[in-house]
Amino acid sequence: MRAYRLEADGKMSRGRLVQMSPDALSAGDTLIRTQYAGVNYKDALAGQGKAPIATSLPINGGIEAVGHVVESTSDLLEPGQAVIAHGMGLGVARDGGLAGYVRGDAEWIVPVPKGLSQLEAATVGVAGFSAAMAVDRLESLGVEPDRGPVAVTGATGGVGVQAVAMLARLGYEVVAVSSKSDAGEELRALGASEVIAPPEASNRMIEPPRWSGAIDTVGGDLLAWLLRSAAPEAAIASIGNAGGNRVPTSVMPFILRGVTLTGIVGNAPPPLRRRIWDRIGTDLRPPRVSSIARVIDPEEIHDTMGEMISGRTRGRSIVAFCGG
Ligand SMILES: NC(=O)c1ccc[n+]([C@@H]2O[C@H](COP(=O)([O-])OP(=O)(O)OC[C@H]3O[C@@H](n4cnc5c(N)ncnc54)[C@H](OP(=O)(O)O)[C@@H]3O)[C@@H](O)[C@H]2O)c1
Repeated sequence: MRAYRLEADGKMSRGRLVQMSPDALSAGDTLIRTQYAGVNYKDALAGQGKAPIATSLPINGGIEAVGHVVESTSDLLEPGQAVIAHGMGLGVARDGGLAGYVRGDAEWIVPVPKGLSQLEAATVGVAGFSAAMAVDRLESLGVEPDRGPVAVTGATGGVGVQAVAMLARLGYEVVAVSSKSDAGEELRALGASEVIAPPEASNRMIEPPRWSGAIDTVGGDLLAWLLRSAAPEAAIASIGNAGGNRVPTSVMPFILRGVTLTGIVGNAPPPLRRRIWDRIGTDLRPPRVSSIARVIDPEEIHDTMGEMISGRTRGRSIVAFCGG
C-alpha cells in the first residue's frame, strides 16, 4: 500500500509517500481499508516540518480516515462496515489515516452515519466534527439563533466552511470572516448572511458589541477582536491557531460583558464522539457537503500541505486511497 510517512527531521518531522506493507502498521483491534482521508492543518504542520506534532517517529501521517472494516477482533464492528476513525493518536503517536490501510480500536471507531457516503463522511472529517462540536457547545452556552449574529473566522478553511453551513442550517445569522477577497460568493452559497475581511490589529480593549457567539479557527489578533466585540453573555469557541497561538487580549470582555471563552478539543471521548456524529448525520448535516471537497491523489498530499500552511486551500482536500 501507499502511505504518507512522517520521518524525523531534526526536532520536527517531514512526510513523503512510501510503499509499505499493512502488516507493519501500529497495533489496533480493527483493520480498515482506507477509502478516503482528509488532509488537516495539523497533518500539514507535521508533514511540512512546521511544528513538532508527531510524538513517535516514523509513523504514517493523517489524523483521520474513512473506509471499510477488513477485520476486527471486537464485536462492536463487522467486516464490510463503513467507518470513520479520527484522533486517538492517529498520525501523532500511531500510524495515521494517510495510507491505504489503518488500524484502530473499535471502541472509538464510529460507523459512518446513515445517508452519508464515504466521500461525504471524509469531507466532514475532523474539521466538520470539530465544527459540529463547537456548534453544540455554543448551544449549550445559550447561544440561540434569535440572540444575534454569530461570527466564523478562517471561514474558507475546512472547519470554517462547515461551521458556516451548520450554523446557517440551524437558522443562525452567520457572519463569515475571511482573508480571501473573492470568498463572498462561495460563503454566501453556504449560508453566510455577510462576509467580511479581518479587521486591522488594534490596542482597544472593548468595542461596540456585535456577536452573540463565534467559532474561531485562527487565534491571535482575530480571537482578540472577537472577544472585544462580543455582546453581553456571548460565547466564543476557540478551535484553531491558523493565525497564531498568542492572544493579545484583556480581562474587559469577561468582567464587563460576561463573555465566555470555551475551548474545543476535537479528539472527543467515545460517547461524545458518537453523539456528535449522530448530529452530523441528522440536524447538523452540512448542506452541499460535496461542494467543499477537492479529491486529490496520494501523490499530491505533500504539495497540498504546503498550500494549506500558507492559507491558500479552500474547503477540504480529500485523498482517494481506495486501499492502495
Ligand atoms: N481543536 C481541534 O480539535 C481542531 C480540530 C480541527 C482543526 N483545528 C485547527 O483549526 C484550524 C483550522 O483548521 P482547518 O482544517 O480549517 O484549516 P485550513 O483548511 O487550513 O483553514 C485555515 C483557514 O484559516 C484562515 N487563516 C487566517 N490566517 C491564516 C494564516 N496566517 N495562515 C493560514 N490560514 C489562515 C484561512 O481562511 P480565510 O482565508 O478564509 O481567512 C485558512 O483557509 C487549524 O489551526 C487546525 O489545527 C483544531
